[in-house]
Amino acid sequence: MKDVRFSKFLLFINALVPLGLMLWDVYHRRVGANPLEFATRTTGMLTLVFLTITIAVTPVRQTFKLNGLIKFRRMLGLFAFFYGFLHLMTYIWFDRFFNLRSVPGDVATRPFIAVGMAAFFLMAPLAITSTDKMLKRLGGKRWKSLHKLVYAAGVAGVLHYWLLVKSDIRLPLTFAFILLLLLAHRLFLKFYPPGKPVAEATLLPRD
Ligand code: HEM
Repeated sequence: MKDVRFSKFLLFINALVPLGLMLWDVYHRRVGANPLEFATRTTGMLTLVFLTITIAVTPVRQTFKLNGLIKFRRMLGLFAFFYGFLHLMTYIWFDRFFNLRSVPGDVATRPFIAVGMAAFFLMAPLAITSTDKMLKRLGGKRWKSLHKLVYAAGVAGVLHYWLLVKSDIRLPLTFAFILLLLLAHRLFLKFYPPGKPVAEATLLPRD
């Protein structure tokens, strides 16, 4: 138990390191000509990275039989939401100058903003229902189906990134490929659950 708590503490500190580094670089003016854009992009990238890691927990756990990994999934998911919230705040502050009335118009005219918003608001119910109390209140089955939204948030996050890059699509493409692999793994396990012989679990119609 002590080990798990210590490992969670280490994860917590490490998950905050990128934020610390970003603030340090902004403070020491080491972020190029546009520190505001740097903060928006860095928090966006961190949201996508933590969301992808959160989605990868189950496939990695099942593939490498690392059952202990499950204990870190909630914290990873909450960090994805935390960085998503910071990212939204950088947009509201540096892009909209707190002019909230301009947001609906911006969402309507810039598709990547609309998709970013969708990704963030898909993560919100997952963060709200991440506590043991909410799990009990919803019940395991409903909680599990609700938390499948994480995949939709991941797809929307990658699409948001894809839509905003001007020319170089290599990084959005890499995230898209990783997400596709994780989704394929999930689907494979749905149709070929471990312990069930492939022949028995096959989708092909029986003769
Ligand atoms: C809450 C709604 C969101 C808004 C309003 C928003 C807005 C933005 C804006 C204005 C940029 C910078 C675009 C530029 O400089 O050209 C950006 C970049 C980015 N956002 Fe979002 N975003 C949102 C949610 C998200 C979410 C939920 C994710 C991840 C799942 C995400 C991932 C990214 C990434 C990866 C980048 C680009 C980073 C880079 O260029 O290195 N955003 N977003």
